[in-house]
Amino acid sequence: MKTIIINIQELLQIRDASVEKISGSEMAVLPSLKNAYLVFENDVISDFGLMENYPKNIFDKTIDASGKVVLPAWCDSHTHIVYAGNREQEFVDRINGLSYEEIANRGGGILNSANKLNETSEEELYNQSKKRLEEVMKLGTGAVEIKSGYGLTVEGELKMLRVIKKLSQKYSVKIKATFLGAHAFPLQYKDNHKGYIDLLINEMLPKIAQENLADYIDVFCETGYFSVDEMEEILKAGKKYNLIPKVHVNQFTIIGGIKAAVTNNALSVDHLEVLSDEDIETLKNSNTMPVALPSCSYFLSIPYTPARKIIGAGLPLALASDFNPGSTPSGNMNFVVATACIKMKMTPEEAINAATLNGAYAMGIENDYGSITLGKKANLIISKQVNSFYELPYAFGSNLIDTVIINGEIVI
Ligand code: NIG
Ligand code: FE
Repeated sequence: MKTIIINIQELLQIRDASVEKISGSEMAVLPSLKNAYLVFENDVISDFGLMENYPKNIFDKTIDASGKVVLPAWCDSHTHIVYAGNREQEFVDRINGLSYEEIANRGGGILNSANKLNETSEEELYNQSKKRLEEVMKLGTGAVEIKSGYGLTVEGELKMLRVIKKLSQKYSVKIKATFLGAHAFPLQYKDNHKGYIDLLINEMLPKIAQENLADYIDVFCETGYFSVDEMEEILKAGKKYNLIPKVHVNQFTIIGGIKAAVTNNALSVDHLEVLSDEDIETLKNSNTMPVALPSCSYFLSIPYTPARKIIGAGLPLALASDFNPGSTPSGNMNFVVATACIKMKMTPEEAINAATLNGAYAMGIENDYGSITLGKKANLIISKQVNSFYELPYAFGSNLIDTVIINGEIVI
């Protein structure tokens, strides 16, 4: 099957295969072609160029993109899409004055979701989660990382990871799986951290490795959750099973998580709503991708990750949704990109770089996803008719997506 998209007003994010991530001032540049065509054969981009040179061969399908922009589908490198039930009561409790921390301290928060998850069958969990996956695919997400972390029991964590695996087998969207058993301490281990960490290392990890259920390992390194030492112990144990760290750090407090993550060769450090100069220096000497989650800041009314400081230091930055029932009940990457522009003062070029190629890097799939590059997967967004791509973040509440192509298949 050979498809050509013609008359593209602007084809965005054209990169050479050698570019694996974009850093610092380079993020302000989004290489593009105006009045372009693009060809994909089955699931792979096989040609693109200016309309004046467009190939006159016979194609199975022609899509006319007059007045529309085409860009790589979003690469959402941080989500918790697999969960059971919802937490809208906590949302109302926060409106009425309780903080996220106060809700967690009285047994709500992550533990609330864990109770619901452990009472839900694998089949039901799959059915609830697939709806969210289908929703974000229609919103232009073509690759997504999904974490466990609402089980907090051997069976619960395995159930989540098996659901993630099943989703990746059934859907064309690219999925990477992360084991986040260290998301919170279950109530019965509140005063016995060692007991839970032993369970995680000695029972969960070997089973996960045996069934090949995870690519990455995550820890919520934060005051009241996992300490830096506890994180390091867990990351080192994960390394024995070839699980690469991608961690939650610096969401509410600075406790040294970034340095420990970098020392353990983390692929990404995510959240960073609070960030010290020392953290920036640490990141400068690493291959670790900083990841900002602006929808989480929006929903919890906490600070936004200081994008200008990060990019100004010459570092790369990725944007992800953090889709989860507690801090970010939305997986809309269009809103993420718009919010990064509006609240974090990222330019549209920077935000699109952050949500495509840098997002792909943050989940280790930059060789096949995240840019318009010959040989990469045909994962594409075709916008509605717009004046320019600036309209995408500008019209932040509108859905300006016309067509989404994932793995060469039209999703919407
Ligand atoms: O990334 N910060 C830790 N984990 C999630 C939220 C978890 C929850 O509240 O359910 C996050 O924001
Ligand atoms: Fe998260």
